[in-house]
Amino acid sequence: MGSAAVALRGTAKRYANGTLAVKGVDLAVGEGDFLSLLGPSGCGKSTLLRIMAGLVPPSEGQVERAPGEIGFVFQEPVLMPWATALKNVALPLELAGLSRREAAARAGEALARVGLDGFGKSYPRALSGGMKMRVSIARALVTRPKLLLMDEPFAALDEITRFKLNNDLLALWEAERFTAVFVTHSVFESVYLSRRIVVMASGPGRIAHDIEVEAGYPRGEEFRTSADYVAQCRRVSAALQDAMSGAGA
Ligand SMILES: Nc1ncnc2c1ncn2[C@@H]1O[C@H](COP(=O)(O)OP(=O)(O)O)[C@@H](O)[C@H]1O
Ligand SMILES: [Mg+2]
Repeated sequence: MGSAAVALRGTAKRYANGTLAVKGVDLAVGEGDFLSLLGPSGCGKSTLLRIMAGLVPPSEGQVERAPGEIGFVFQEPVLMPWATALKNVALPLELAGLSRREAAARAGEALARVGLDGFGKSYPRALSGGMKMRVSIARALVTRPKLLLMDEPFAALDEITRFKLNNDLLALWEAERFTAVFVTHSVFESVYLSRRIVVMASGPGRIAHDIEVEAGYPRGEEFRTSADYVAQCRRVSAALQDAMSGAGA
């Protein structure tokens, strides 16, 4: 891996109420990598992601980011209910000063890239959970980010939809070569998607294990049902168990 897309050095975050969410985190995410942050609820995954995004300032330590746009996908699609899918995706561009016409054209392309060609005029209420998440991903990708940060984006979806979105996300990553940081508490999802898995422990949140997934891309259903996949899941699961027992959870 070459230079870092984003790097945290000695990062700690204490919230205003006194909670020490993360402490002593050193993490450099290589440009073009697909990294998952894996850990139990409350271990500071969202906090680290928000620090990487610059949405939350760290209390200690440095954040270094390579220049370029950042895309952020939240756990909920957070779409504007009164606006069409196209308008939801176009808004970041309009806010950045593009003309409505140019923004709409690029939003239409982004919708097509996530498999929603022809749904631009639909309102969020008319879309399924998976489709709403696709709109949310299109909105994050419309600015052509170099760094895409995702916070448990598929956690609320049924398994079939989640598998489909996993595959489509990998195809987008392979085509567009952004750096991906993906938060999840699913061992299976992290192994399927990632090249590297950072396992976190809590109390305070910190890095417990840093694991390389030994499988190439493209990955598909063949990988998901392979003995190799199961073996890697077992390895990551053991690391997660270790992190959780170490934390006294
Ligand atoms: N805005 C906040 N104010 C106070 N405490 C917070 C805030 N956000 C998160 N926390 C606390 O920080 C810890 C880590 O939270 P979070 O980063 O959301 O973990 P995760 O995403 O792994 O579930 C938890 O104890 C949580 O309650
Ligand atoms: Mg979270």
